Amino acid sequence: MSAELVTVSYIGAIILFILTLGGLSHQETARKGNLYGMIGMSMAVLATIFGPQVTSNTHLIVITMLVGGSIGITLARKVEMTQMPELVAILHSLVGIAAVLVGYVNFMGGSGLSGIEKSIHEVEIYIGVLIGAITFSGSVIAFCKLSGKISGSPLMLPARHWLNLGLLIASIYFGYDFVHQGHVGGDPMIPLMIMTGIALLFGIHMVMAIGGADMPVVVSMLNSYSGWAASATGFMLSNDLLIVVGALVGSSGAILSFIMCRAMNRNFISVIAGGFGTDTGAVASGTVEDQGEVVPIETGEVANLLQNAKEIMIIPGYGMAVAQAQHTVNEITKTLRDKKINVRFGIHPVAGRMPGHMNVLLAEAKVPYDIVFEMDEINDDFPTTDVSIIIGANDIVNPSAQDDPNSPIAGMPVLECWKGTTTIVLKRGMATGYAGVQNPLFFKENTRMYFGDAKESLDAVLKELQ
Ligand code: TAP
Repeated sequence: MSAELVTVSYIGAIILFILTLGGLSHQETARKGNLYGMIGMSMAVLATIFGPQVTSNTHLIVITMLVGGSIGITLARKVEMTQMPELVAILHSLVGIAAVLVGYVNFMGGSGLSGIEKSIHEVEIYIGVLIGAITFSGSVIAFCKLSGKISGSPLMLPARHWLNLGLLIASIYFGYDFVHQGHVGGDPMIPLMIMTGIALLFGIHMVMAIGGADMPVVVSMLNSYSGWAASATGFMLSNDLLIVVGALVGSSGAILSFIMCRAMNRNFISVIAGGFGTDTGAVASGTVEDQGEVVPIETGEVANLLQNAKEIMIIPGYGMAVAQAQHTVNEITKTLRDKKINVRFGIHPVAGRMPGHMNVLLAEAKVPYDIVFEMDEINDDFPTTDVSIIIGANDIVNPSAQDDPNSPIAGMPVLECWKGTTTIVLKRGMATGYAGVQNPLFFKENTRMYFGDAKESLDAVLKELQ
């Protein structure tokens, strides 16, 4: 393939990637967006393999792609919807380690450059390895936390911000040392390796310090870091496509992090610095404190309350995804709307375990988009709501986020369902949610606890309604 054709393919791929991002910003166009992305990526990969830069061993690239692709397909087919964030985190770690390895190989192979061009190239390598190593270790820790392999509680080292500052200054010092040809040990490889160790440590420390409910912001931030790592790799390899695509991922990830920070009422800068959201030193206890009596409710009463309501708000959470109750939710919604009851959905920005988790499930079950609302759009409507039905949600409806400044989720905006006439909570028992904190909502006077698996409970309610 000629260099001109490769350039044309790259431009085509870049346009398709931009269309992908546009498509993914709306539920109605998300499928089309994904399709553009797949076509764009195929074009990019083919143009790279058959372009003039790959002069030998094409068969090796194809074999490794087949091996990697098969592993990817097997994992993607096997993964449960609720495990997607873990998969995303571990995939980010691969982008990070790729940037590190490309950086090292690039440096060891020698650039053949001299003077200022050589220095610029070395700065590119240094920054690529730095971002890649932070992304790698941070993503591995995020994977372990999300999959429950290590505790979700924040690790609060004394003077942790000073430690981060120290690591940053050391990285800058070794960067200077690296570009000025190795004062440490007389070999530029030594400062590069020391910095890699520092960056790995920083990635671990940054994510270890994040507690419970703040993990979503970290995942989207690591997404952004992985984009910048890819972009830095593009500079090292002089590959324009990788530079642009990395920048698209980096900037869209940064915008998503910013949106999530706003939604979670967290400071964007302290997210980037690490260890945010836990300044009060509050640590999730995970224990069930005695907060009073809970009032259980039976299927018949739930159906009665729903049939006699005029305004119903459904708030889905992680438990709906676990129970796979979305189709029954849609059937109940249809039945109630046929009875001229106004049913709406309130979606918290971090409900479930990944951005848009609930929207995806509701779209899959064919719940009409026009009755699904973001938290900000409906939070003022609870005082006029007759029944709020909470399906496997916990942290996102926890009033202590507003009332208890010592709570690990203090300051996080929540859906104020307790302001309605009656709240029905569907869950299996009194277990805490992801943040590991007890929820005073369950003990409020106007709350009824409907215990059981959400799908089984809702199937029973549907039967009663019909
Ligand atoms: P959670 O606070 O995690 O609560 C889920 C509740 O569902 C649990 O209390 C559990 O109680 C119940 N549940 C589990 N399986 C169930 C089943 N089969 N049937 C009925 N109930 C079931 O969920 P949430 O309110 O959606 O909040 C999300 C949390 O995850 C937030 O803290 C958020 O920060 C965090 N997080 C979010 C993301 C993104 S991006 N969305 C990513 C990572 C973490 P029982 O065990 O008693 O049934």
